[in-house]
Amino acid sequence: MTDVMTQRLTMPPFEYAPRPYEGPSREEVLSLRRRHVHPAVFTLYRDPLMIVEGQMQYVFDETGRRYLDMFAGIATVSCGHCHPEVVRRVQEQTATLQHSSTIYLHPNLALMARALAAKMPSGLDVTYFVNSGSEANDLAVTMARLFTGHTDVIALRNAYHGGSPSSVALTSHHTWKFPVQAQPGVHHALCPDPALSPFSGTAEEVGSQSAGDIRDLIRFSTPGKIAAFIAEPIQGVGGVTRGAPNYFREAYAVAREYGGLCIADEVQTGFGRTGAHYWGFQNYGVTPDIVTMAKGIGNGVPLAAVTTRREIADSLTGRIHFNTFGGNPVSLAAGLAVLDVIDRDGLQENARKVGTRLVRGLRRLQERHPLVGGVRGLGLMLGLELVTDRATRAPATTQTLALLEAAREMGVLLGKGGLEGNVLRIKPPLCITEEDADFAIDVLDRGLARV
Ligand SMILES: Cc1ncc(COP(=O)(O)O)c(C=O)c1O
Repeated sequence: MTDVMTQRLTMPPFEYAPRPYEGPSREEVLSLRRRHVHPAVFTLYRDPLMIVEGQMQYVFDETGRRYLDMFAGIATVSCGHCHPEVVRRVQEQTATLQHSSTIYLHPNLALMARALAAKMPSGLDVTYFVNSGSEANDLAVTMARLFTGHTDVIALRNAYHGGSPSSVALTSHHTWKFPVQAQPGVHHALCPDPALSPFSGTAEEVGSQSAGDIRDLIRFSTPGKIAAFIAEPIQGVGGVTRGAPNYFREAYAVAREYGGLCIADEVQTGFGRTGAHYWGFQNYGVTPDIVTMAKGIGNGVPLAAVTTRREIADSLTGRIHFNTFGGNPVSLAAGLAVLDVIDRDGLQENARKVGTRLVRGLRRLQERHPLVGGVRGLGLMLGLELVTDRATRAPATTQTLALLEAAREMGVLLGKGGLEGNVLRIKPPLCITEEDADFAIDVLDRGLARV
């Protein structure tokens, strides 16, 4: 990283030639999008980037320019863009049977449910497949309410659990909430991350006090019984925030004391992304009652799931529940391939190894650049918090945007998050190499010196 300001930054070599792009021009696409696509559908960069091809950890624009994808379609491309094994199995299934629905038997549904059970702690062995993380969380909360007979749900401040009418009620950022009536019965406990907490002390003390806040919330704002406590093991959209490991243990104990089920939202943290473990909750030594999954489970194919125990699943059998595309054979062909590839290619271990190297690099950036207020996360779920003043942690929102743009100019795609938009989110495909990580750090180093 030493002469990074003077040398030309070169992306690691990659033996792949993108196909010549022959579709409509970027300007045409932009103009069509402006005219006909719903205005709520937004793009990330000031000058929107068009991506037309992807291969493993890289994507290509319409001119054939290669970018290192450090955001993975928002933490979704787990194995790598167009991973050959996932492509092969999806193509095969598409050519064989695209859709039948769950009213008929198909092997993929049964095999994928068994494969997920094999990855879970014992007892969590029954799965319902849906299409998105929002749907998975809707279903998890519905089952918790039916099973417990209680309605109140505790979520965390700074959480993101989706945009559907009921999952947006769990989400806790005013920026994602429209001024329309949200589903009632959701209460938000304090975020246990020391960076966002009103409590002081060590991270463990903040964790314990935050778990105590759940108890207060239940006693003061609910009938004294709850249906569920739902939390992301690491908050993703919220800017890669989390409590100390004792937090989850204590929070789960409080929730259970008041009759609640514990739901782990593994939409971002699942499938090896945190490196040390396959599931995010395993980093804290807890076992949830319900696990929701999406994003990385399909490597970009729409697929999501809710896994729980038999007796909790049974609560949903009192009425008809059906999902047309849930359990689609093509999505599940992708899911089955993803599970195999994560194990076969050693992607969880790679997330740990490259994640460790990235964290080291990010910490060096923190030493060199006063703008860097914090380095957060685990494995390949990392965040770089930018502040204008380290003492007050005043958010460097404008500089974060500028750094995002500068990195893109140098060929690295990143995300941003946090309520104040001052956290760079680093969540690449799990197949990224150490050379890629070093390149990304050099790009950030140069970008930070510029903004
Ligand atoms: C933790 C978490 N849960 C749920 C969701 C919602 O998933 P989807 O956009 O597939 O509905 C997201 C999406 O970003 C998420 O990050």
